[in-house]
Amino acid sequence: MSAKNGSIKLVAGNSNPVLAKEIANWLDLPLTKAIVRRFADMEIFVEIQENVRGSDVFVIQSTSFPANDHLMELLIITDALRRASARRITAVVPYFGYARQDRKAGPRTPISAKLVANLITHAGADRVMTLDLHAGQIQGFFDIPTDNLYASPVMVRDIREQFDLGNVMVVSPDVGGVVRARGLAKRINAPLAIIDKRRERAGESEVMNVIGDVAGYTCILVDDIVDSGGTLVNAADALLANGAKEVYAYITHGVLSGGAVTRVASSRLKELVITDSIQPTEAIAKAPNIRTLSIADLIAEAIGRTAAEESVSSLFD
Ligand code: R5P
Repeated sequence: MSAKNGSIKLVAGNSNPVLAKEIANWLDLPLTKAIVRRFADMEIFVEIQENVRGSDVFVIQSTSFPANDHLMELLIITDALRRASARRITAVVPYFGYARQDRKAGPRTPISAKLVANLITHAGADRVMTLDLHAGQIQGFFDIPTDNLYASPVMVRDIREQFDLGNVMVVSPDVGGVVRARGLAKRINAPLAIIDKRRERAGESEVMNVIGDVAGYTCILVDDIVDSGGTLVNAADALLANGAKEVYAYITHGVLSGGAVTRVASSRLKELVITDSIQPTEAIAKAPNIRTLSIADLIAEAIGRTAAEESVSSLFD
């Protein structure tokens, strides 16, 4: 791997140390020694313990739960690196939290995704690398180069190993996710169905209309985020009610907050496959129908190509 912007340094925050270590292993590089800790009043303190002057630094930190602490760590690490004269700083944010607040959802509400993009830029990041942004347009919230990677090659590899593709149908759990689901369906040459969620009147429960004939198919739901699990569990029920043989889900970011793990475990979903963009909790690791795929090799490859000034987009051709 050639480094064109100074020697490569990898710095990890506390959000996902396992993924950071795996990325470092793939790149055959050590993680840069750094202290990221709390004062008694919970302020964050960072000390980079190696010389990074003139280096091409990649800070690996998802802004996952607790989102504000992990975001603040990312900002403070970036500030420390900038003041230590790193030549170039790339914020590697496998899960970009706040992404769902990407527009004014009502009067007098914020666009927090834009605010977070501003904070990362002003802290001193020169580039951003992220994965399956909730909406591709969020790249435009940054005025610095932003690479949005896709977990689909990792998912496609796994789907090919697990399923008889002749009987698989890819399903988008809502209209907003059709582009993402269609992309995956194309890669495995499978048909596509869409779930159209509608609440006819306020206070009434959502009606799930399945667009496409799913009867007899093994359905694979594809989405960017599973949070409460509600979207997924309801979608699985709707597909089974429409004659689907069985339902699986491949979702990039396993936010799985509140009682989501229990909800998924007691659902009719055969299996939920997530990536390690967010470090899986013990409950996730123990759940009988949740499995995690690693995106460490994908991110490591993208870091290597960025450092060598090679194409990153061609990873997804
Ligand atoms: C929505 O636009 C997203 O793509 C996900 O479908 C949503 O965030 C999932 O949330 P939950 O698991 O809480 O239903």
